[in-house]
Amino acid sequence: MEPAKTEEPQKVIFSAIQPSGTITLGNYLGALKNWISLQDEYDCIYALADLHTITVRQDPAAFRRHTLEAYALLLACGIDPKKSLFFIQSHVPTHAQLAWVLDCYTQFGELQRMTQFKDKSAKHPDNINAGLFTYPPLMAADILLYQTDLVPVGVDQKQHLELTRNIAERFNGIYGPTFKLPDAYIPKNGAKIMSLQDPTKKMSKSDENANASIAVLDKPEDIMRKFRRAVTDSEACVRYAEGKDGVNNLMGIYSCVTGKTNAQTEAEFAGKGYGDFKAAVGEAVAEHLRPIRERYADYIRNRDYLEQCWGEGARKAYAISIRTLRKVMKKIGFVPPKPM
Ligand code: TRP
Repeated sequence: MEPAKTEEPQKVIFSAIQPSGTITLGNYLGALKNWISLQDEYDCIYALADLHTITVRQDPAAFRRHTLEAYALLLACGIDPKKSLFFIQSHVPTHAQLAWVLDCYTQFGELQRMTQFKDKSAKHPDNINAGLFTYPPLMAADILLYQTDLVPVGVDQKQHLELTRNIAERFNGIYGPTFKLPDAYIPKNGAKIMSLQDPTKKMSKSDENANASIAVLDKPEDIMRKFRRAVTDSEACVRYAEGKDGVNNLMGIYSCVTGKTNAQTEAEFAGKGYGDFKAAVGEAVAEHLRPIRERYADYIRNRDYLEQCWGEGARKAYAISIRTLRKVMKKIGFVPPKPM
């Protein structure tokens, strides 16, 4: 008898980003561009992690606007709802449900050791709420609900992913195989984009200095201005070298948007000053972002289409995640509910 044909299922990728402000060039080159390219090879599930965002107090109107903008912008960047699942975390109730369950399988001491918790509670000493503390089990729920294989994360989230694996292993150890253990996905060409004003710090949307970060939706003239003011050094030579953080960062950005290697960039600007180089980087970035800005303008005006996308995304995400949640609840010993 012929063996049954087994088609290798695609690996599941899960990632999320918080809609906590403007999406920056750092978010785009460091994470989103990679999310887009993974869509053909993997079963990708992407979310706006809005439940995580309220661990820091939000103004309601701004929060709503940031979430809408982030949804439209991610579509404009190339997340394709026909290929990938793309939803808003708060629309899918299984996330908060599993998070509560996982809270009960996570130790106080483990959460206390999280560097992000320590950093954020130092930054917001007047609002060290319980959600800030239990943020990692919610993130674990996001990942584990979809039996995720791989999670593309930056270094700042690696500790959270390790905790996710520990929680999953602990649960599996008590109740038998329930959750798949996710691995970190380290992108081949991962870019870490630094602040234009202090290139030893990561580019951040919450930076107080407006010239430090580029928003994906910045107008070309603002992009040009910020690059003109970018901090470099006094050597006046475009080359990649230790100690030249500002120039290295600009070369990294230039390489991301043009595909040129550092050697090609060095050759291109041999004998030229930083003024020419910074103008070229600014122009290349503005050009690269132009089509995204144009598509964004279309999406953000089309509320019906956006609603249709996130409605469909939430429906599919619920259908997948409820299976994991039911399994978990049953194993723990909850009486199965009647369908509502
Ligand atoms: N905590 C992540 C951040 O702030 C966002 C996030 C939420 C996430 N849930 C996730 C990332 C699950 C990866 C997987 O960047």
